[in-house]
Amino acid sequence: MNIKQEILKAFHANPGRFISGEELSQTCGCSRTAVWKHIEELRQEGYEVEAVRKAGYRLLAAPDRLSAEAVIAGLDTKRIGQHVLAYDTVVSTQLLAHEAAAKGMPEGTLVIAEQQTGGKGRLGRAWHSPKGTGIWMSMIVRPVIPIPKTPQMTLLTAVAVAKTMQQETGVDVKIKWPNDIFIGGKKVCGVLTELNAEADRVNYLVIGIGINANTAAADFPEELRDIATSLAIESGTTVDRVRFIQQFCRIFEAEYDHYLRHGFDRIKTEWEACSYTIGRWVTVKTIHSELEGRAVGLDEEGVLIIEDAAGARHKVYSADVNY
Ligand code: BTN
Repeated sequence: MNIKQEILKAFHANPGRFISGEELSQTCGCSRTAVWKHIEELRQEGYEVEAVRKAGYRLLAAPDRLSAEAVIAGLDTKRIGQHVLAYDTVVSTQLLAHEAAAKGMPEGTLVIAEQQTGGKGRLGRAWHSPKGTGIWMSMIVRPVIPIPKTPQMTLLTAVAVAKTMQQETGVDVKIKWPNDIFIGGKKVCGVLTELNAEADRVNYLVIGIGINANTAAADFPEELRDIATSLAIESGTTVDRVRFIQQFCRIFEAEYDHYLRHGFDRIKTEWEACSYTIGRWVTVKTIHSELEGRAVGLDEEGVLIIEDAAGARHKVYSADVNY
């Protein structure tokens, strides 16, 4: 048993309340001395724990650090976020999530890092991932769906991120097809979905989510300043990153369970309601061609439909969409 994890769970289940050393030792199945030792370790990690004789311990504040213990403590999901691999600096959480998935880590496993030195974006681009301000995470999912339906998982993720942002910060966010999240015309989040499959079967997906949570304007490199923003800049408050991840896990799990039982309809409606793309005249660039037209909606599979000036309809699977 992870004793620190159990102590944090107990604190989360009893917010603001003192818990006696005796109660903690029973909950964790260890001695009171072991409880004290682990509380000291938590303090060294930045947790503020008050200790009062005869009353016990209570949690006053948690550090702004993405540890596995902090994310799992108090998380009431069935599987999303129930396994967390947390790192300080990595090349890319995508690479580590692929390794973890290949070793059999279960659905819902999250790989998170404070910093990425080689963050990957869509279409071979880099993803700026500075230390301590963002949410850089990759999630393993193992949906039993046909391969052509896997882009729906990207749209589902974008809807779950958008809903979490709205709930946690109150800002009005929009989704640009397929999965960029924008606030007031600037990008705040990107989603990168990578598929591992056999000829006719999905093994797993690694869904990478990059959120500029607390990045200050000055911390964006020059070339991103006009096109990128953060939740903190837009909402004027610091985002509690642990709480945000936990809320995302709950929302994602609810959407995902509904999707697996009832199909894509609800996601399609929610995605279209949040969309920045639908109804606009757009230029669509794929590797092979360029197309102009009005984005009229998603089809049942989640593919974008563009109607050109002559009224012909085109399906867009993977492309850069510009307005
Ligand atoms: C995009 O191009 O918009 C997608 C960006 C995805 C970035 C995230 S950050 C966590 C995960 N690890 C990576 O290297 N990329 C994704």
